[in-house]
Amino acid sequence: MRILITAGPTREYLDDVRYLSNASSGRMGYALAADAVAKGHEVVLVTGAVDITPPNGCDVRSVQTTDEMRNACEAAFPECDGVIAAAAVCDYKPLHRVTGKIAKTGGPITIEMIETDDVLAGLGRQKRNRWIVGFALEASNSRENALQKLRAKNCDVVVLNDPSAIGSLTNSVELIDATGQPIESWKGTKEKVAQALICWIEKHLSPRN
Ligand code: CTP
Repeated sequence: MRILITAGPTREYLDDVRYLSNASSGRMGYALAADAVAKGHEVVLVTGAVDITPPNGCDVRSVQTTDEMRNACEAAFPECDGVIAAAAVCDYKPLHRVTGKIAKTGGPITIEMIETDDVLAGLGRQKRNRWIVGFALEASNSRENALQKLRAKNCDVVVLNDPSAIGSLTNSVELIDATGQPIESWKGTKEKVAQALICWIEKHLSPRN
């Protein structure tokens, strides 16, 4: 199959030198890309800025902002059989990006933030005969929230994990289907969890026809 994988954090710039982001290492998405390539799949890896090297054999599209990630994904998705959205996408961005550098004022400042576009929901709207595997990072009401995201983003399944996954070498996940129930659970290094997820996808999700 040809698989689109998103990985790493996005950045939202306040000015030309400062940004808001998160602590995502990109390891989960990169482990998925490595295992998918090892199993003979073609991988388009749309990645935010991370400190690790992309696996050999991927078509790597590097992005920084959520808008760039959305554009790269929307360009790649039509030629893919499915997407695995492991990226930790910023939910908000500053309403205005200042050209140059914001100077100190001597007092507090307020930055007005607006929601970013939801990259995965956008792919969900153009899904057709493709499959979609989302991630859900939940601190509470986890399965209910994961099911809501599955529906809102038109996913086949959602990989549910918790905030301890961010920046970690390991992960503990449940795979939630459209009934809201966990149909699999995997724990261990991100490489091990990635191998289990790619195996599951090969067994249960089909190439587009
Ligand atoms: N996602 C995305 N674009 C966004 C936000 C999230 O593509 N702007 C994707 C993530 O890559 C993940 C899924 O949507 O596959 C769920 O991300 P998560 O951060 O758990 O949830 P949010 O939809 O951002 O909702 P909230 O932060 O309110 O829990």
